[in-house]
Amino acid sequence: MSDVSRSSPAGIRTAAVIPAAGRGVRLGPGAPKALRALNGTPMLIHAVHAMAASRAVSLVVVVAPPGGAAEVKSLLDAHALPERTDFLVVPGGDSRQESVKLGLDALPPDYDIVLVHDAARPLVPVDTVDAVIEAVRGGAVAVVPALPLADTVKQVEPAATPGEPEPVVATLERALLRAVQTPQGFDRATLIRAHETVTDNVTDDASMVEQLGLTVVVVPGHEEAFKVTRPLDLVLAEAVLARRRLNDGF
Ligand code: CTP
Ligand code: MG
Repeated sequence: MSDVSRSSPAGIRTAAVIPAAGRGVRLGPGAPKALRALNGTPMLIHAVHAMAASRAVSLVVVVAPPGGAAEVKSLLDAHALPERTDFLVVPGGDSRQESVKLGLDALPPDYDIVLVHDAARPLVPVDTVDAVIEAVRGGAVAVVPALPLADTVKQVEPAATPGEPEPVVATLERALLRAVQTPQGFDRATLIRAHETVTDNVTDDASMVEQLGLTVVVVPGHEEAFKVTRPLDLVLAEAVLARRRLNDGF
């Protein structure tokens, strides 16, 4: 068991920001992705509870879908968090980056470590959350959980004529590649500086810290921390929940 799960060193507080304001276009028509149910419970609630499962996390900031803040608040009231964990709900923005920034703006001053976790990764195990926090407490300014790739990755360029096959320009060395998940963990001041400085469109928060010239480190991710993106991912997520129920003896 890691130190994180046993103790919370005096004075070091950790908050989790959960961007949940996306529409979920790739999942197909329906409610905003974060509000879609997995085994009867909205994905967002699973994600919030996954963060609150860490004893180190004392605040969860949920960045809600447009017009959905009131609904998210009542969902959170209906699915009680542990006594040690508070929550806040703020409305999101047009991009993930903007949504995370709005979540950071709502953070009270007394948090030194910030996790950023996709609502779309509802099933991340607590050990992964704790490993990320542990690495930030150990002095890293930015930490990402990541897994080696199963597929070979090739770089392509656009086809000369639209509709024609794309030519491959390079094959990247798979052993050096990692698929990056969330929660990503940060020294709070570093993450805020990254969000104030970097204006490029990015797909994760750690890459903004990389653009400041700082070192981002990797800890082992987990296959259950996959991102629910396309319809088949809903099937997989419900299968994971069913397996957990069996294993927990429910
Ligand atoms: N997100 C957000 N605000 C946005 C866009 C995305 O808070 N304007 C959040 C999503 O809710 C999700 C996370 O960022 O929890 C990762 O994004 P992604 O998986 O791409 O979700 P969506 O953008 O909702 O999905 P899609 O790209 O298929 O529309
Ligand atoms: Mg998206």
